[in-house]
Amino acid sequence: MIFPAIPNKGLYMNNFEFYNPTRIVFGEGKIGELDRLVPTNAKVLVLFGGESARKNGTLDEVTDALKSRQVGYFGGIEANPRYETLIKAVALIENEGYDFLLAVGGGSVIDGTKFIAAAVNYPGDKWEVVTSGGSTIKTALPFGTVLTLPATGSEMNKGSVITREELHSKLAFMSDKVFPQFSILDPVKTYTLPPRQISNGVVDAFVHVIEQYLTYPVNANVQDAFAEGLLKTLIEIGPKALENPTDYDVRANLMWTATLALNGLIGVGVPQDWATHMLGHEITVLYGLDHAQTLAIILPSMMHEKLAQKQAKMAQYAERVWGIHDGSEKEKALKSIELTRQFFESMQVKTRFKDYQLTQDVVEPLVDSLVAHNMVTLGEHGDITPEVSRRIFIASL
Ligand code: NZQ
Ligand code: ZN
Repeated sequence: MIFPAIPNKGLYMNNFEFYNPTRIVFGEGKIGELDRLVPTNAKVLVLFGGESARKNGTLDEVTDALKSRQVGYFGGIEANPRYETLIKAVALIENEGYDFLLAVGGGSVIDGTKFIAAAVNYPGDKWEVVTSGGSTIKTALPFGTVLTLPATGSEMNKGSVITREELHSKLAFMSDKVFPQFSILDPVKTYTLPPRQISNGVVDAFVHVIEQYLTYPVNANVQDAFAEGLLKTLIEIGPKALENPTDYDVRANLMWTATLALNGLIGVGVPQDWATHMLGHEITVLYGLDHAQTLAIILPSMMHEKLAQKQAKMAQYAERVWGIHDGSEKEKALKSIELTRQFFESMQVKTRFKDYQLTQDVVEPLVDSLVAHNMVTLGEHGDITPEVSRRIFIASL
């Protein structure tokens, strides 16, 4: 996603400010807490995706918990939420005067709700909420979330990624105004997820950690240790989450790990590299692949391309996350790329364009799309130019 590259040429931790106001309410049966968490006099619009929340009873539980309030519903927010859909909810809210939003779903519903919250009563062209990167957002409606899919961290961060179909754009914005007030994380709500979404969630969370970790050392000891702990946890529980969908312990750990992977904590004071996400967004918008599939395709080639710059941190990753202690720094770094690819494949997420029936014909349109979206100086050094991105796409075929 989301955070721009933060150049840091020194070996010291960067100065930082950390702010995260989202209340997490975690555990089985916690949807009932909505009655306490939502203001009593609120007129609430509940936002959801397709049919999953209705089918698995989550929506009924929400309705029951909010029964003493005025409640409306807006369904149909699709995966990779589209401006064209969200703008209808904005009009509904402006016409009917809802003053609190509740997102029930995965990252797409939550991201969509963030856009809606900021776009309601936004003066001027509402697409500017996204194109300004969030900098023009002055106010937003308050909202909470009921998370049903561990993956994006959107339930505890200020980022959102919105697609505008007619412009072939998938762009991120960030604003302190769109932190959720609260998020309810009930691991039981993930039991109905299809395997593909669990696989996607594990890979997405893994790459979120990697993009805040796999840069160059700045002596940020606790950020590194947290990141390595999250990666090791995903490697351990990812396969188990696929094998046994109703293992509460595994789902609870997965849910909290995915949240911590992108709630800002491990990214403070360290250089970040969101290039894999940025290349991935273009693949989704042009060819419709799932977000995590795009990351699994790009990351191994990105690591190869950036071997020289990232080698020290990659060797640390090999040692501390994968237990590889033999060989030179370069050999360890190379081994870590292989193990990363194997992990994604073991999670049933394919790592080559050809696995998705995409050929070299995709390369130039993808490069053009990056240029059109001004994604021309990516990575922690800002040196991933369109030329470098082209090499990465070609290496991923
Ligand atoms: O639409 P329904 O019927 O609800 O089905 C959804 C959807 O089809 C289904 N689902 C969700 N919870 C379920 C369930 N099915 C059964 N049982 C449940 N409990 O899962 C499908 C995918 O949902 P989606 O919300 O699209 O997935 P995810 O959470 O992976 O979100 C992906 C989106 O988040 C953005 C991505 O770009 C993508 O648009 N990201 C947002 C980030 C952020 N805000 O910080 C960071 C990420 O990098 C990511 O970019
Ligand atoms: Zn992601």
